[in-house]
Amino acid sequence: MYCTRKITDNIYWIGGSDRRLSRFENIFPIPRGVSYNSYIILDEKTVLMDTVDYSISRQFIENLEYTLNGRGLDYIVINHMEPDHCAVIGDILMRYPDAKLIGNAKTFGMIDQFFEDMKYEKIVVKEGDTVSTGTHTLRFVMAPMVHWPETMVTYDESTGILFSADAFGTFGALDGIIFADEVNFDRDWLDDARRYYTNIVGKYGAQVQALLKKAAALDIKMLAPLHGPVWRKDPDYILDKYNKWSAYEPEDKAVMIAYASMYGNTENMANALACMLAEDGVSVRVYDVSGTDVSELIAETFRVSHIVLASPTYNGGIYPVMESFINDMKALNVQNRTVALMDNGTWAPVASKQMAKELEAMKNITLLDKSFSIKSVVLRSQTEELKAFKDALKSSME
Ligand code: FEO
Repeated sequence: MYCTRKITDNIYWIGGSDRRLSRFENIFPIPRGVSYNSYIILDEKTVLMDTVDYSISRQFIENLEYTLNGRGLDYIVINHMEPDHCAVIGDILMRYPDAKLIGNAKTFGMIDQFFEDMKYEKIVVKEGDTVSTGTHTLRFVMAPMVHWPETMVTYDESTGILFSADAFGTFGALDGIIFADEVNFDRDWLDDARRYYTNIVGKYGAQVQALLKKAAALDIKMLAPLHGPVWRKDPDYILDKYNKWSAYEPEDKAVMIAYASMYGNTENMANALACMLAEDGVSVRVYDVSGTDVSELIAETFRVSHIVLASPTYNGGIYPVMESFINDMKALNVQNRTVALMDNGTWAPVASKQMAKELEAMKNITLLDKSFSIKSVVLRSQTEELKAFKDALKSSME
């Protein structure tokens, strides 16, 4: 049975959702599933905007055949060549061999890497080129490294829809809905949108900023990404989030305390600090790095202005899970944050010193000059010292 949604008069969503996949890219947990969006324009010519992951190919082909209703397929626009959107190109061409593929020079290099000896007709486009399909004119805008080198986005001049590839996408299956205004996005989707962006595209802030500049010159009425809901009302909401995330600007003046703890003593130190901060009215959340997926930790580093890292000393260095989290922060270009350090070590607490060394290699990280250290447990005799650490952190937020 088909499962499609109407986007405008002759444009339909014909994608699908996967709730069986436990990890996106085999890394990121997706307890709410994920959607793979594909759109079709039924104009004088018929145009498929991207395809889908192999996992939902059966549903997708049913949707495609239903919406085409016996018509042929004239064009397939390939905005992004990652297999979650392109795995079924070969199958579609077997059914619709006359369809011409539209992509840029880099797209076709990748097609030949993924699909050996596949025969197809191609239209190679570059920045600003247009293709008319009858009443619609599609303009192609290059978006390199958002988040692959061949990525482009397609602007439909007649409807103002920007088919935006992965940009403005989010994790989460679509439960029959297709528009962001059909859900409580802030409450139910924003965390997953942030987690999707920061972990998958987060490294490429400069390239996203370049795309946002190009987008600002377009009269965007709707954003149609490859994952998650379509933005038909208030696209500025998600544009503003992307602007903040890609500029590495915090969304909230808030503290994230990420701790690692072997026996609960470093955890106690983190909790004691959290109590003192909360008592002073500071917004704070506490995370156990051993029990929290690193994709959630990364998303939180993009949300908050201040990060506290609290680690035991382990093998004369940083506790391994904490070290791995710091490595991910580096890889994803986390920057413009104030970081405060706490450590524990029964005979030689050195984790803060080593974490500082790692953080110094990162861009625009301000290390709080005060740190806090314990040997085994937090002693009541250290109360004033801990308060002074909290005060220094709080002052840095003013
Ligand atoms: Fe959703 Fe970069 O693929």
